Amino acid sequence: MTIPSPDTQTIVRRAWQAKTVVPAFNIPYLPMMEPVVRALRDTRSFGLIAVARLEWMKFQSGSLAAVQTEYARVGDARHTRLHLDHVPVIDEDNLRVDYVPVFREALALGYASVMLDGSRLPLDENIAATRRVVDMAHAAGVAVEGELGAVLGHEAGPLPPYEELFASGRGFTDPDEAARFGRGTGVDWLSVAIGNIHGAISGAARGRQKVQARLNLEHLRRIREQTGVPLVLHGGSGIRKSDVQAAIREGIAKINVGTAIRQPYEQSMQDSVARAQEAVYATTTAIIRDELEIAGNAGSLVNGEQ
Ligand code: 13P
Repeated sequence: MTIPSPDTQTIVRRAWQAKTVVPAFNIPYLPMMEPVVRALRDTRSFGLIAVARLEWMKFQSGSLAAVQTEYARVGDARHTRLHLDHVPVIDEDNLRVDYVPVFREALALGYASVMLDGSRLPLDENIAATRRVVDMAHAAGVAVEGELGAVLGHEAGPLPPYEELFASGRGFTDPDEAARFGRGTGVDWLSVAIGNIHGAISGAARGRQKVQARLNLEHLRRIREQTGVPLVLHGGSGIRKSDVQAAIREGIAKINVGTAIRQPYEQSMQDSVARAQEAVYATTTAIIRDELEIAGNAGSLVNGEQ
């Protein structure tokens, strides 16, 4: 599969310069993809269709190839690109991952951008692993996202109370390390930890309402000043809207959204897949229009229209 033009790197850079954002919608169940694409098309906006390793290991997206096959059926180059989200070097269960073959396969399948998550490694090892993936992906014209800092929430077991985490700044991306990481890896985008957390994915916590996270915008500004690349906000579900909007003005050019569309799907999938798909469509449309306020931005991001 050839990657359509413009490439994802160009699109995200345009978003960054225009101070708008590209959402990446996670697909833990394959039937979620069609209503997400439809919501992007109907709102004339642009977004990434994303799958993370844990979504084919612990949910029902099947495999990298299964996601790519569904994308070939329902994707729309005027509104979407295919993105490989979180392939960790050490996963949420603390196990080492043989990540290079995963990237090799994704590149062969035509994924248009990829993420190596080395955030559970010491800084130098994170830099070395990310550099390795950057070398592989850039040779194929594919953009790479790296992560620095701890965006918690995917690990099993309870999190410390959110307010305690936020106040202590534990795991926040260090601005000086971010500068070193950017120089050492050549990544296209950097995922940062500034108060954002992932929705839980294990056990009963999967279905629970996520806490409303806040963002430390002053900290984000310091990271932005030290780095020259578009920044990425993971854990995009349920963050206070005013904080998300301010973060977009401060350099966040991509936001990952998983839990907010997964839970409506899971709540309705016992009734019927069609009903669950309509729940995903309604939620995705509301996120695009009301939370992110990006309806209508596909023309400028994809075609460079002013
Ligand atoms: P949420 O599930 O909290 O939206 O996070 C999604 C995400 O960051 C996937 O990489």
